[in-house]
Amino acid sequence: MYNSKITGLGYYVPENIVTNNDLSSIMDTSDEWIQDRTGIKERRWIDPKTDDTTSTMAVKASKIAIDRSGLEKKDIDFIIFATLSPDMYFPGGGVQVQDMLNMSTIGALDVRNQCSGFIYAMSVADQFIKTGMYKNILVIGAENHSGALDKSTRGRGVSVIFGDGAGAAILSRSEVKGKGILSSHLHSEGKHARELMMDGPSTVRWVPEILAENDSEDQSYYPYMNGQLVFKNAITRFSEVIMEGLDLNNLQKEDIDMLIPHQANLRIAQFIQKRFKLSDDKVYNNIMKYGNTTAASVIIALTEAWEQGKIKENDLVVLAAFGSGFTWGSVIIRW
Ligand code: UT7
Repeated sequence: MYNSKITGLGYYVPENIVTNNDLSSIMDTSDEWIQDRTGIKERRWIDPKTDDTTSTMAVKASKIAIDRSGLEKKDIDFIIFATLSPDMYFPGGGVQVQDMLNMSTIGALDVRNQCSGFIYAMSVADQFIKTGMYKNILVIGAENHSGALDKSTRGRGVSVIFGDGAGAAILSRSEVKGKGILSSHLHSEGKHARELMMDGPSTVRWVPEILAENDSEDQSYYPYMNGQLVFKNAITRFSEVIMEGLDLNNLQKEDIDMLIPHQANLRIAQFIQKRFKLSDDKVYNNIMKYGNTTAASVIIALTEAWEQGKIKENDLVVLAAFGSGFTWGSVIIRW
């Protein structure tokens, strides 16, 4: 069995900055409410006049990651793309990246696990590398939320939270034992599927049905979130899945050098930080700048933390996420 390690990281966010005050000019909200409840100060939303989409942002992030890995595109054996907001209903974003990067006919897999998408994608990539099937895998998390949010006061409970962006990692084969991805841990609880979801358009709620109803109050084609239930489950599941990873590797809380939590809410991250007794320099948060970018959030945060020199050789890095499904997971890395 081989090991897998991260050899390249990159991210891209749209240039268009949307502040909380910008939002309060289009809906009944305030900078104070958003900062108090979430920690968010601003987010990036795609300017429709640009060519940014989920897949083009993914391509921009991927180019940086491939470049930094020292590999060439021809060395990449497989693409795994996590998103809940692909450019098209089908096919998924993986094949678009394969085409836009002009790569050979390598396989491309799409992962639909929302906020946990990047964690699931890393875990899948790790298994392919461990078995020897692939040597280098491009793993992407990218989202275009702004295209599908209800930006009126009716949607304020959701729309102020989410932002657009993309991140990419190259996972490569390594023969060094005890380094790279040590383990990954994946969970789900589908009974909560409707607590954070978007109902339509879907095969059970297709466009003609929505149009026939002609209901101006219909919110089924906007994301819905039972915020308080999600919050409560998040703090429990984050803690459990981080502990699960530490226990499996005979590690303690004190061994964590850097925790990268999914950027859902600064209050959730702070709760976890306190529970694990981690100092400020051992948790990386950027939700203040980007909001919640779902499948992109962990990889954007990991890339930023690494770019800022906050992750060093041999550090124990823990990635963890929780979200729609519910799904949650962690990845334990010896850098
Ligand atoms: O990434 C996926 C995982 N997602 C999460 O982990 C999110 C978890 N949940 C949360 O982060 C929080 O529940 C939210 C930030 C979404 C909401 O915070 P909350 O403290 O749970 O607020 P709430 O939904 O209970 O709403 C409190 C009040 C309501 O008014 P009333 O009924 O008390 O009069 C809302 O209508 O705040 C109102 N409200 C707003 N007010 C101003 C809701 N959204 C807004 C808004 N601006 N944007």
